[in-house]
Amino acid sequence: MLDIYTLGEEVLRENAGKVTVFDNALAILVDAMFDTMAEADGIGLAAPQVGVSKRLFVVDTRRPGEKMAFINPEIIETSQEVCSREEGCLSIPGMYYDIVRPSEITVQAQDLNGKAFITRASGMLARVIQHENDHLNGVLFIDRMEEESRAKLVAAYQRRNKRKKT
Ligand code: NI
Repeated sequence: MLDIYTLGEEVLRENAGKVTVFDNALAILVDAMFDTMAEADGIGLAAPQVGVSKRLFVVDTRRPGEKMAFINPEIIETSQEVCSREEGCLSIPGMYYDIVRPSEITVQAQDLNGKAFITRASGMLARVIQHENDHLNGVLFIDRMEEESRAKLVAAYQRRNKRKKT
Protein backbone atom coordinates (compact mmCIF):
# COMPACT_ATOMS: atom_id res chain seq x y z
CA MET A 1 0.00 0.00 0.00
CA LEU A 2 1.05 3.55 -0.71
CA ASP A 3 0.84 6.37 1.84
CA ILE A 4 -1.93 8.86 1.14
CA TYR A 5 -0.84 12.48 1.54
CA THR A 6 -3.29 14.77 3.29
CA LEU A 7 -4.24 18.43 3.43
CA GLY A 8 -1.21 20.59 4.20
CA GLU A 9 1.26 18.50 2.20
CA GLU A 10 2.95 20.56 -0.51
CA VAL A 11 2.69 17.87 -3.20
CA LEU A 12 -1.11 18.28 -3.22
CA ARG A 13 -0.66 21.89 -4.32
CA GLU A 14 1.81 21.36 -7.15
CA ASN A 15 1.07 21.42 -10.84
CA ALA A 16 1.90 17.81 -11.73
CA GLY A 17 4.27 16.99 -14.58
CA LYS A 18 3.43 15.06 -17.73
CA VAL A 19 4.07 11.33 -17.88
CA THR A 20 6.61 10.76 -20.63
CA VAL A 21 7.79 7.19 -20.01
CA PHE A 22 5.31 4.33 -20.34
CA ASP A 23 7.32 1.56 -18.72
CA ASN A 24 6.89 -1.21 -16.20
CA ALA A 25 7.45 1.19 -13.29
CA LEU A 26 4.38 3.14 -14.44
CA ALA A 27 2.29 -0.03 -14.59
CA ILE A 28 3.44 -0.95 -11.07
CA LEU A 29 2.55 2.52 -9.77
CA VAL A 30 -0.93 2.35 -11.33
CA ASP A 31 -1.48 -1.13 -9.86
CA ALA A 32 -0.44 0.10 -6.42
CA MET A 33 -2.75 3.10 -6.78
CA PHE A 34 -5.72 0.83 -7.59
CA ASP A 35 -4.90 -1.28 -4.51
CA THR A 36 -4.44 1.75 -2.26
CA MET A 37 -7.71 3.27 -3.48
CA ALA A 38 -9.62 0.03 -2.87
CA GLU A 39 -8.09 -0.37 0.59
CA ALA A 40 -9.11 3.20 1.47
CA ASP A 41 -12.59 2.55 0.05
CA GLY A 42 -12.19 5.41 -2.43
CA ILE A 43 -13.57 5.75 -5.95
CA GLY A 44 -10.75 7.87 -7.32
CA LEU A 45 -7.07 8.50 -6.55
CA ALA A 46 -4.62 10.85 -8.23
CA ALA A 47 -0.84 10.40 -8.25
CA PRO A 48 -0.13 13.56 -6.21
CA GLN A 49 -2.19 11.99 -3.41
CA VAL A 50 0.44 9.28 -3.11
CA GLY A 51 3.27 11.80 -3.30
CA VAL A 52 3.95 11.44 -7.03
CA SER A 53 3.66 14.74 -8.89
CA LYS A 54 2.67 13.20 -12.24
CA ARG A 55 -0.42 13.65 -14.42
CA LEU A 56 -2.30 10.43 -13.83
CA PHE A 57 -5.22 9.13 -11.79
CA VAL A 58 -7.27 5.99 -11.34
CA VAL A 59 -11.01 5.69 -10.86
CA ASP A 60 -13.35 2.87 -9.93
CA THR A 61 -16.99 3.82 -9.45
CA ARG A 62 -17.76 0.10 -8.89
CA ARG A 63 -19.91 0.11 -12.03
CA PRO A 64 -19.10 -2.14 -15.00
CA GLY A 65 -16.53 -0.57 -17.32
CA GLU A 66 -15.80 2.27 -14.93
CA LYS A 67 -12.51 1.04 -13.51
CA MET A 68 -9.91 2.96 -15.48
CA ALA A 69 -6.53 4.67 -15.39
CA PHE A 70 -6.14 8.08 -17.03
CA ILE A 71 -2.64 9.20 -17.96
CA ASN A 72 -1.98 12.79 -19.11
CA PRO A 73 -5.74 13.44 -19.13
CA GLU A 74 -7.32 16.54 -20.58
CA ILE A 75 -10.95 17.47 -20.24
CA ILE A 76 -11.71 18.65 -23.76
CA GLU A 77 -15.42 19.35 -23.40
CA THR A 78 -17.80 20.14 -20.54
CA SER A 79 -21.58 20.46 -20.62
CA GLN A 80 -23.31 23.75 -19.90
CA GLU A 81 -25.56 21.85 -17.55
CA VAL A 82 -24.17 21.59 -14.04
CA CYS A 83 -25.17 19.57 -11.01
CA SER A 84 -24.39 19.56 -7.33
CA ARG A 85 -23.28 16.47 -5.47
CA GLU A 86 -21.55 15.67 -2.22
CA GLU A 87 -17.83 15.08 -2.58
CA GLY A 88 -15.14 13.82 -0.29
CA CYS A 89 -11.43 13.25 -0.76
CA LEU A 90 -9.01 10.66 0.60
CA SER A 91 -6.64 13.57 1.27
CA ILE A 92 -9.20 15.31 3.52
CA PRO A 93 -10.68 12.22 5.18
CA GLY A 94 -14.08 12.45 6.80
CA MET A 95 -15.07 15.78 5.27
CA TYR A 96 -17.83 16.10 2.67
CA TYR A 97 -19.47 18.98 0.86
CA ASP A 98 -21.82 19.62 -2.07
CA ILE A 99 -19.83 20.83 -5.07
CA VAL A 100 -21.23 22.14 -8.34
CA ARG A 101 -19.63 20.84 -11.54
CA PRO A 102 -20.59 20.24 -15.19
CA SER A 103 -22.84 17.18 -15.51
CA GLU A 104 -21.13 15.72 -18.57
CA ILE A 105 -17.58 15.83 -19.84
CA THR A 106 -15.40 14.47 -22.61
CA VAL A 107 -11.91 13.51 -21.54
CA GLN A 108 -8.91 12.58 -23.63
CA ALA A 109 -6.12 10.59 -22.04
CA GLN A 110 -3.52 7.88 -22.59
CA ASP A 111 -3.58 4.31 -21.36
CA LEU A 112 -0.68 2.36 -19.79
CA ASN A 113 0.84 1.79 -23.23
CA GLY A 114 0.66 5.46 -24.14
CA LYS A 115 -2.25 4.88 -26.50
CA ALA A 116 -4.66 7.82 -26.68
CA PHE A 117 -8.35 7.33 -25.99
CA ILE A 118 -11.40 9.53 -25.55
CA THR A 119 -14.23 8.92 -23.07
CA ARG A 120 -17.51 10.69 -22.58
CA ALA A 121 -18.76 10.55 -19.03
CA SER A 122 -21.81 11.59 -17.08
CA GLY A 123 -23.11 10.94 -13.57
CA MET A 124 -20.71 9.70 -10.94
CA LEU A 125 -17.92 8.97 -13.42
CA ALA A 126 -17.93 12.56 -14.74
CA ARG A 127 -17.83 13.81 -11.16
CA VAL A 128 -14.87 11.63 -10.16
CA ILE A 129 -12.86 12.41 -13.29
CA GLN A 130 -13.24 16.15 -12.70
CA HIS A 131 -12.32 15.83 -9.02
CA GLU A 132 -9.21 13.74 -9.82
CA ASN A 133 -8.21 15.95 -12.73
CA ASP A 134 -8.25 18.93 -10.35
CA HIS A 135 -5.65 17.14 -8.19
CA LEU A 136 -3.21 17.23 -11.13
CA ASN A 137 -3.44 21.02 -11.08
CA GLY A 138 -3.01 21.29 -7.31
CA VAL A 139 -6.72 21.96 -6.81
CA LEU A 140 -8.79 20.35 -4.04
CA PHE A 141 -12.59 20.19 -3.82
CA ILE A 142 -12.52 22.67 -0.93
CA ASP A 143 -11.14 25.27 -3.35
CA ARG A 144 -14.48 25.09 -5.14
CA MET A 145 -16.42 26.02 -1.99
CA GLU A 146 -17.38 29.51 -0.93
CA GLU A 147 -14.77 30.99 1.34
CA GLU A 148 -16.83 30.97 4.52
CA SER A 149 -17.91 27.35 4.13
CA ARG A 150 -14.38 26.33 3.30
CA ALA A 151 -12.97 28.03 6.39
CA LYS A 152 -15.52 26.20 8.55
CA LEU A 153 -14.78 22.83 6.96
CA VAL A 154 -11.02 23.25 7.30
CA ALA A 155 -11.36 24.35 10.92
CA ALA A 156 -13.53 21.32 11.70
CA TYR A 157 -11.04 19.05 9.96
CA GLN A 158 -8.12 20.49 11.92
CA ARG A 159 -10.01 20.25 15.21
CA ARG A 160 -10.71 16.61 14.56
CA ASN A 161 -7.12 15.82 13.69
CA LYS A 162 -5.89 17.56 16.82
CA ARG A 163 -8.23 15.46 18.95
CA LYS A 164 -7.01 12.32 17.26
CA LYS A 165 -3.39 13.10 18.08
CA THR A 166 -3.89 13.86 21.77
NI1 NI B 1 -9.52 13.94 -3.89
